[in-house]
Amino acid sequence: EKGTYPHYMLKEMYEQPGVVRKISQAYEDQKGELTLDVAICKALNEADRLYIIAAGTSYHAGLIGKQYIEKIAGIPVEVHISSEFGYNMPLLSEKPLFLFITQSGETADSRQVLVKVKALGHPTITLTNVAGSTLSREADYTLLLHAGPEIAVASTKAYTAQVAVLAIVAYVAAKEQGKTVDFDLKNELAIAANAIQTIMDSKEEMEQIAHEFLEVTRNAFFIGRNLDFYVSLEGALKVKEISYIQAEGFAGGELKHGTIALIEEGTPVFALATQQAVSLNIRGNVKEVVARGANPCIISMEGLAEVGDRFVLPKVHALLTPLVAVIPLQLISYYAALHRDCDVDKPRNLAKSVTVE
Ligand code: F6R
Repeated sequence: EKGTYPHYMLKEMYEQPGVVRKISQAYEDQKGELTLDVAICKALNEADRLYIIAAGTSYHAGLIGKQYIEKIAGIPVEVHISSEFGYNMPLLSEKPLFLFITQSGETADSRQVLVKVKALGHPTITLTNVAGSTLSREADYTLLLHAGPEIAVASTKAYTAQVAVLAIVAYVAAKEQGKTVDFDLKNELAIAANAIQTIMDSKEEMEQIAHEFLEVTRNAFFIGRNLDFYVSLEGALKVKEISYIQAEGFAGGELKHGTIALIEEGTPVFALATQQAVSLNIRGNVKEVVARGANPCIISMEGLAEVGDRFVLPKVHALLTPLVAVIPLQLISYYAALHRDCDVDKPRNLAKSVTVE
């Protein structure tokens, strides 16, 4: 039940700090160390490449998971949109391991890939929120999100849960292989959970931003580099699906290769600047769009903030920035939908689980 919340989406956004904490506990062994099932560790150790298969928001989480698993555990990863995989299957490595990311565990596009790769004899894992769902039953192994039921059509807490579990998968896989990991993920997840709470407590600020930037516009752009790029894709998807504003997420450097032609006087451009190594570059992209009349909203992070940034996120570990950078974008899309009189929890044309291919 949504209780005192006006919408499931708001309730589910508020649940995110608790979900991150719960995941951290759920993946702990008796000694309090992060762990995965022995069989899943074995499958990860035996694989020479991981193929992540997903759709929509889950695909966006997969893009982040790829970075985690490659950077922390050193296992090569490819991420594929499930609907494309069937007819555009890449050449597979010798020992592929498939990881299906699906909140509902019912997405038909993802299931058809599962059926296909199982028939080829490859091992499969489903990362899902729903124990007993189709993809969970049909895969060799299941990783659970522990996010609790997600009712709003727009996915919020499942996304943060996916990112958190993928970080744990990368971390445990690295340790299993005897790689040194120079941070304590449990501790960093706890810090991120608190940071999410702090941002949720600033929701009036996001309502104000939605009011200023999105109340009347017909389009909006989201830009970021590195991990911020993937979060930009997710922010744009949230805005599209619940407020019906045409929104696009871009890699900061790609905008000038065509799309910048769409920037007009007052076009909202949300820029994420949480990545230290590319902070100057993304700020350069903001200057480029401002010179063409854009209305910029820079969301940066403590330690990287500059005068004029519209919102400054609490500092978290460099790899966990997606967990916090997505929160203002979720809130901004929520308020944009409210201000535009849209049905937040049940947007037009959308279903919570998509069981047709
Ligand atoms: C976006 C959204 C969809 C789903 C997609 C995949 O907010 O809800 O993009 O993420 O339909 O669904 P699952 O994860 O259930 O396979």
